[in-house]
Amino acid sequence: MIRSPLITVMVQAVRKAGRTLARDFGEVEQLQVSMKGPGDFVSAADRKAEDTIFAELSRARPNYGFLMEERGAVEGTDPANTWVVDPLDGTTNFLHGIPIFSISLALVRNGVPVAGVIYNPVSDELYVAESGQGAYLNERRIRVAARRKLADCVVCCGLPHMGRGNHDQFNRELELVQPQVSGLRRTGSAAIDLAWTAAGRFDAFWERNLSPWDMAAGIIMVREAGGYVSDMDDGDKMLDNGHIVAGNELIRRDLQKLLKKA
Ligand code: IPD
Ligand code: CA
Ligand code: CA
Ligand code: CA
Repeated sequence: MIRSPLITVMVQAVRKAGRTLARDFGEVEQLQVSMKGPGDFVSAADRKAEDTIFAELSRARPNYGFLMEERGAVEGTDPANTWVVDPLDGTTNFLHGIPIFSISLALVRNGVPVAGVIYNPVSDELYVAESGQGAYLNERRIRVAARRKLADCVVCCGLPHMGRGNHDQFNRELELVQPQVSGLRRTGSAAIDLAWTAAGRFDAFWERNLSPWDMAAGIIMVREAGGYVSDMDDGDKMLDNGHIVAGNELIRRDLQKLLKKA
């Protein structure tokens, strides 16, 4: 496990927010839920968790800025360092009682994620990564899977939902990928998808139209687990264009090439 002051601060914040999410998960009927757009829900649980993380990190690093899903951007006096926060990644799962959701927290320095923490308070799985320090699940070092052929791989993807994304494009991608792999999965939390890719549970992951808070922590998690991450054009503009492909060096490359044909 990484015990740097930075990771300690991040872990403390997500564990505290995780306790509020775990409490609210048992009382989902009592939560106020509203819609941000078609098929796009937000609840009091998302806001409470975000308030907790914001308060903790503002106290620990008063100069850093924030980019948060619910509150948006809050400028800091240190322009190099920004916390990128998804207080509840997988709100739809959460509201349906599906115990697959996470808190995703990254520190982005000059546009590059340098530390990340992803936490599922139900399974108590805590993923941490810091630049040059490796990636860990709880106390255990994690690495991306070593499979070399797509045909042997379990690949995870995100699906466009009502009101969001390009459905025709996704259907073309699915038609190409699905006959080439040994299994396809969808969890409902992009941060978990990337954490599980870092841990070698999934061989690869792709999704389009994500936001920076869905993937900033996952990007460093995969990289520190020895994996590779790119956008759909083989570039590194994931945080700008929202598209991501991740896996080990070979599998990411092969999947990216295949998706490009769609
Ligand atoms: C969503 C999840 C989901 C992905 C969606 C995201 P939210 O985040 O990461 O897996 O497919 O695109 O919006 O809204 O639950 O934080
Ligand atoms: Ca959301
Ligand atoms: Ca999210
Ligand atoms: Ca969210």
